[in-house]
Amino acid sequence: LSPCVKGILADVQNPDTPIEINGWVSSSRISKNVAFLDVNDGTTYEGIQCVIRPPSLLPSGIKNGTGIQVKGIWSEGKGKQKYEVHVNDTSQGKVNVLGPVDELFPMIKSNHSAQYLRTIPEYRWRDQSLAAILRFRSQVETTLVNFFDSQMFIKTHPPLVTASDCEGAGELFKIESSSKLKNDEQFFGKDAYLTVSTQLHLEVLCAALSRVWTLTPCFRAEESDTNRHLSEFWMLEAEIAFVDNVSQLTKFSEKMIKSVVTNLVADYNGMGSNLINTVDKSTTQIMTDRWEMLLSKDWDSITYTEAIKIIQNAVDSKSVKFETRPIWGDSLKSEHEKWLAGEYFKNPVFVTDYPLEEKAFYMKINDRTTEEAGTTVACFDLLVPDIGELIGGSMREHDLQTLKTEIERRGMDTTPLDWYLKLRENGSVPHGGFGMGFERLLQYLSCTENIRDVIPFPRSASTCLC
Ligand code: 4AD
Ligand code: MG
Repeated sequence: LSPCVKGILADVQNPDTPIEINGWVSSSRISKNVAFLDVNDGTTYEGIQCVIRPPSLLPSGIKNGTGIQVKGIWSEGKGKQKYEVHVNDTSQGKVNVLGPVDELFPMIKSNHSAQYLRTIPEYRWRDQSLAAILRFRSQVETTLVNFFDSQMFIKTHPPLVTASDCEGAGELFKIESSSKLKNDEQFFGKDAYLTVSTQLHLEVLCAALSRVWTLTPCFRAEESDTNRHLSEFWMLEAEIAFVDNVSQLTKFSEKMIKSVVTNLVADYNGMGSNLINTVDKSTTQIMTDRWEMLLSKDWDSITYTEAIKIIQNAVDSKSVKFETRPIWGDSLKSEHEKWLAGEYFKNPVFVTDYPLEEKAFYMKINDRTTEEAGTTVACFDLLVPDIGELIGGSMREHDLQTLKTEIERRGMDTTPLDWYLKLRENGSVPHGGFGMGFERLLQYLSCTENIRDVIPFPRSASTCLC
């Protein structure tokens, strides 16, 4: 491979040696005696300045976005940059155009709005600020890989095509075949769907490997067309054997997110600083304050019942206005979730023990010694400011008969879940896990307004452009 800009900047070479740079022009200034080109290849935020003397060495028609190759001398910089590339006659310097751009190329101009950039999915990642988000995404994923490795987890690969509705919410996309050979409304003669969550399959793997995790696309046919919902999103899911209470799961997920933030804070000079350079000063401040706040203390944990009381008190004392005043048994609406985390706790908060009727069939029902006597489940949601729900998790019912009874009580068909129930017949041990929306994590940590700007190709009820 030829050297990349990040590699060149990190591994500062001896000045006065020949160097080759490949990239795209991010800005240019041409005067009578000299031309300056900033060249970047997207491996880092910073570009490398090329000083071309005489400017006649520059091929004509160079615009922002032109793909070029520059051969010159790595030299100590005279301006802001410590190093730059000097291209001149005597040292056989050369600028080759690899890919010209035409007048209509929309990225010749910078500072397009995020909204406009979403209309040009084939080009939008060439915007420096958006490109920084993809580098950020990659960095956060790497940190998570390292975190799970350090906690003795095995990364596994459950299927995306499934016969089961994990959440039982009926938000599945059905798979139909439309090939020349066969054209039917099924997957080779059987009903099959794109997964809404890989949890059920992870439970199978967990029963063999104890600690498993995965990061996969998940698909939900929900109409919600908001700035935090996608039809195709990536979910990080972990499943852990031999845990017996929700607080083990909440503590673990807190540790997981804090490991990411610790890495970001420590990495001001790496990718983290790239993200900081690309946003305005006030957003940088909000973002770094958020990171510090996240690490400043242990996050609060309250029960659903306590959450309802807090919200009701706030409504009754007129300190906040919501569209609805929830009563026990209602689901928490997005406005309640955002207020609890953003205004009341001003930090992430775990809400545990939701009503049984609000949650999925597989969650372990709390024993009858609790206040709500068999009407709540051993589960948690992690709520964060601005976003609302970031994680959903629970203890799983591992007793065969109890699980069967609950599935039947809900009027669900047990047949598609036979394989899942079998798990409970042999060597069934206490276990639990959680799922975190990866885009929501990125959105929260980077203070990005719209979830569509942290995933390369967003798909939602209103977006599927290419
Ligand atoms: O709360 P959810 O539905 O939980 C599950 O699916 C569990 N089976 C996970 C598990 O225990 N293994 O989804 C988990 C998280 C949510 O908290 C949210 O962050 C994200 O997935 N999520 C979405 N993100 C973007 N767009 C959507 N439409 C999302 N739906 C859920
Ligand atoms: Mg949920």
